[in-house]
Amino acid sequence: MDNNQTLTITDNRTNKTYTVPVTHGTIRAMDLRQIKTGPEDFGLMTYDPAFMNTASCQSAITYLDGDKGILRYRGYPIEQLAENCTFLEVAYLLLNGELPTAEELDLWNCEVMSRSMIHENVKKFMDGFHHDAHPMGILISTVASLSTFYPESRNIHDPNNRHLQIVRLIAKMPTLAAYAYRHRLGLPYVYPDPDLSYTKNYMNMLWRRLEPKYAANEVLAHALDVLFILHADHEQNCSTNAMRAVGSANADPFSTAAAAVAALSGPLHGGANEEVLRMLDEIGHKDNISSFIEQVKEGKRKLMGFGHRVYKNYDPRARIIKQVAEQVFAVTGRNPKIDIAIELERIALSDEYFIKRKLYPNVDFYSGIIYQAMGFTPDQFTVLFGIPRTVGWLAQWQEMLQDSEQKIARPRQIYVGAERREFVPMTLRGQHELAMA
Ligand code: CMC
Repeated sequence: MDNNQTLTITDNRTNKTYTVPVTHGTIRAMDLRQIKTGPEDFGLMTYDPAFMNTASCQSAITYLDGDKGILRYRGYPIEQLAENCTFLEVAYLLLNGELPTAEELDLWNCEVMSRSMIHENVKKFMDGFHHDAHPMGILISTVASLSTFYPESRNIHDPNNRHLQIVRLIAKMPTLAAYAYRHRLGLPYVYPDPDLSYTKNYMNMLWRRLEPKYAANEVLAHALDVLFILHADHEQNCSTNAMRAVGSANADPFSTAAAAVAALSGPLHGGANEEVLRMLDEIGHKDNISSFIEQVKEGKRKLMGFGHRVYKNYDPRARIIKQVAEQVFAVTGRNPKIDIAIELERIALSDEYFIKRKLYPNVDFYSGIIYQAMGFTPDQFTVLFGIPRTVGWLAQWQEMLQDSEQKIARPRQIYVGAERREFVPMTLRGQHELAMA
């Protein structure tokens, strides 16, 4: 044991001293269990609601330095990947650890695109959803349903089988999302076109009308690719943690991913992009920004799309998205909400409340404005987050299954409820409360 890499703890209850190893700036919570006041004592635990200071795993996938605003996938800066790669190329990198050669990429593209079809029965229960069903609700259910079509997916310890299910889910997410979109509009579903790229095929399934072959706008398809790359992984965020937690019980990957989609739908997580648009709609005009900011500072509102558990600096993804917005607007026309958003950001970043708390725009602040300009309604925005994040979920799920240190995720608790008490028969219940009244 390296003496410089240890922590010495004195338990003031017993005056005993313990030395525990420090690795990667971290001590193992289980090393604290030896710290006891006596043989009956369970041993010292740590209490960390919301995992504010607890690492739940070791991971080699995504590096994030929130103070410096750095994000890297497998060591590559996000800016370089966004500029030079396609989404599926980045998906390969996240899953396999290395960028693909030209040959590997061709094979990977074919593998994914050839599995983009979904079972015809999915259409039937898609039709069962009400016309205004939220697309995230549809996505949670249809992703989970895939486990019934592929029962062999339960065999999660076979690497070949696991690979097949990973390809299936990545391939089918855009198809499920596009069917949910068209169901809402009452339009017939469009089958995937495996000749197209991942994002162009998604656009084809969303927007093709009667033309025999869909020709995606190159700028918009590229913008979607960049947005998908930026959303592909973000280490131990809420939905990835759900993926790892549910997957640790050895559930099949589709049921597991459905749990992750559910976590993503929350407004504090992926659902924030939808809320940002609602907020900008409500603000309506630059003149109303100051009064809105005042409400935020009084704690009456949240500035959606701002703040992050890890980033205490500008989110590098938000910076790239701002540039993509201008490229998209050159095709679609300017979404006037961008001007409100830019002004909102300017005012917030010069305000003491936000400076003190290190609150910066996050990935969700600008993404919805682009999606809206492209023709998506706000309730589709989180789906656009979920499609690419599926790659991150699966990469993290696979890493978890291959990690010999991982077991079923099962936190401890500090019990603060009633002491043991005698059962009260029905006829006597409530009498104590009455007597007290
Ligand atoms: N608007 C106003 N105040 C905020 C905001 C915000 N958006 N975010 C944090 N704060 C304040 C918070 O009230 C607290 O103030 P105080 O110290 O006076 O109590 C302080 O900043 C620290 O916030 P926190 O809630 O302890 O931070 P957290 O790490 O628990 O929460 C967060 C992170 C992302 C949930 C939160 O910043 C938030 O609710 N943001 C708005 C929703 C949002 O944009 N979510 C998307 C996150 S990025 C993509 C993703 O993960 O999906």
